Amino acid sequence: MTEKVVLVTGACGEIGQALVQGLAKQGGYRIVTADLSPLPENIKDVSTEHAQGDLVYKIKTFYDYDFDIIFHLAASLSSKAEVSSEDAHRINVEGTMQLLMLAAYRSEKYQKSVKFIFPSSIAVYGMPDLETKKLAGCVKEEEYNLPHTMYGCNKLYCEKLGTYYSLYYGQKHLDERPPHMLDFRSIRFPGLISAFTLPHGGTSDYGPEMLHAAAQGNPYSCFVREDTKISFMAMPDAIKSLLMLVDVPREKLHHQIYNIGAFALTAGEFRDRASRAFPGAQITFAPNPRRQGIVDSWPEDVDDSLARADWGWQPDYDADAFFDEYFLPEIKKRYQR
Ligand code: SER
Repeated sequence: MTEKVVLVTGACGEIGQALVQGLAKQGGYRIVTADLSPLPENIKDVSTEHAQGDLVYKIKTFYDYDFDIIFHLAASLSSKAEVSSEDAHRINVEGTMQLLMLAAYRSEKYQKSVKFIFPSSIAVYGMPDLETKKLAGCVKEEEYNLPHTMYGCNKLYCEKLGTYYSLYYGQKHLDERPPHMLDFRSIRFPGLISAFTLPHGGTSDYGPEMLHAAAQGNPYSCFVREDTKISFMAMPDAIKSLLMLVDVPREKLHHQIYNIGAFALTAGEFRDRASRAFPGAQITFAPNPRRQGIVDSWPEDVDDSLARADWGWQPDYDADAFFDEYFLPEIKKRYQR
């Protein structure tokens, strides 16, 4: 069987490391990686080539590769993007645009639809106030698409760009459309939590930061209020979703963009569970108004019925399974507690 050639950008990030490991485990892929940083030891051996540097300036080198699949994970997350918004726009939008053009060009020229898998985010939603957030509960893909952050604006726009390149680029009538347009597929992720890595620059980071701190016996001051609620997911479920979506035959997909959910907890519930698992955990709350505002604009939970109907999405880890079967066993091994 010939190997599929896959590019993973942002390979050194949290999703990147876990995805590269997941692809290698599954087999059948020649994995090319890209990131600003050198590859960490845990994925060094499974990447056949690593392009280190800024994607925007490196794009020409990728025109020489025959990619079947592109996982474009490189991004500047929501808190970081608020403080260096121009930079974030360049990384999040310009980088995506360059890769989409490459994938569209290759799809047409070589008559082979390149699959372009794009992680989007709950940051594309913008709840106007807390009352609306509470009343709305689980939001559907097309609701409240009014992001309050640079990162959310970038992700929402890139969803639109990807959809444009896969459906309308060239402005041909439906029956004249070339059969090999790029195949854009996007998942809107909730906050992700890994037992092995920590996020940098995001705003859902209080969840994983609090749990890792408690597991290490370190005090943690949470930057959002106790009643702050958004949806979260175990990293293995996030990787499962990417590997599932990439394999679904296009005709089964009725959409380009899919919510996926697993469990929604308040920061106070995280504290309670952390305190039960690690008695004596020192968790306090000192909300940062800017970061609080960002999380308040994200929905409490998402409606993922489209993903369930089109490609059979179902998480393996609800809140109990996340703690009992994944996070606590792994983190106790990691920190020897
Ligand atoms: N986890 C991301 C962030 O906090 C949201 O997608 O920025």
